[in-house]
Amino acid sequence: MFASLRKRFHGRDFLSIHDVTGEEIKAIIQFAVELKEGVRRGESHTFCDGKTLAMIFQKPSTRTRVSFEVAMYHLGGYALFLSAQDLQLGRGETIGDTARVLSRYVDAIMIRTFSQRDVEELAAAATVPVINGLTDWEHPCQILADLMTVWEAKGRFEGLKLAYVGDGNNVCHSLLLACPRVGMDIVVATPPGYAPHPEIVAAAVRAAERSRVEVVQDPVAAVREADVVVTDVWASMGKEAEHGDRVRVFRPYQVNSALVSHARPDFVFLHCLPAHRGEEVTDEIIDGPASRVWDEAENRLHVQKALLALLL
Ligand code: CP
Ligand code: NVA
Repeated sequence: MFASLRKRFHGRDFLSIHDVTGEEIKAIIQFAVELKEGVRRGESHTFCDGKTLAMIFQKPSTRTRVSFEVAMYHLGGYALFLSAQDLQLGRGETIGDTARVLSRYVDAIMIRTFSQRDVEELAAAATVPVINGLTDWEHPCQILADLMTVWEAKGRFEGLKLAYVGDGNNVCHSLLLACPRVGMDIVVATPPGYAPHPEIVAAAVRAAERSRVEVVQDPVAAVREADVVVTDVWASMGKEAEHGDRVRVFRPYQVNSALVSHARPDFVFLHCLPAHRGEEVTDEIIDGPASRVWDEAENRLHVQKALLALLL
């Protein structure tokens, strides 16, 4: 299976959920599940023997940095952490020139930054695969891990309903693009003024063959009969100055016991983390029996290993 999958993915970029089909998402997840089982059995899998990954960070990170770094180590390769402020990028070297130079040293580039356009510019100039490790627009690696966690919890995607409650941000965008691709319904509830970008919603609707894509304002309507309930911080990185205003606006969108009483009894809760406990989610939910957030965080490692083994 690996050889044919690798042929399909080799050399490609992963900048957006737009870059993969539903079948490809399922294949990456299936491979990630096999790698995870392999780790549990103590097997090694050095698919990236001698390969290097440059990781450019313009925003902080715990999970993305550590999971990519450990992923490369498990795969027999090496990852370099590059803080954007310490690169010449911070002093005006262009993104394109940075991409051309890094491509002469490394086998792939992962970048976390603000603008999706910068990631696209980097990928256009790079001659090695580029992976989006979060922009203001999307967080595609996170959503691969989220769907892997749903798969582990439910054993299927078709016919499940995912409710996303909160800010129409990068995580919400990638979920909107991914759920219809794998046959899941998605209902997003955001306060007025914080809805996901209409371009993303339109693309999600186009991707939906049989599944439902809806954006509403009522969190109860979104969560009703949901199999998966997801939220994220109310103020993403770069929006810290709006935190006070956002806390007021988003208060009715907190994922708490009252809200999830409308979900299916066997629902699971996901959050990409870091969580602001007491804001978008209460302790009783994130620490409660429905929470799969630690599996979700762990699965970043496994899906990214699968992705790196296939792209590099
Ligand atoms: N979920 C996620 O991307 O976490 P970090 O910001 O810690 O990388
Ligand atoms: N929406 C959050 C995700 C953090 C992983 C942010 O962009 O800060």
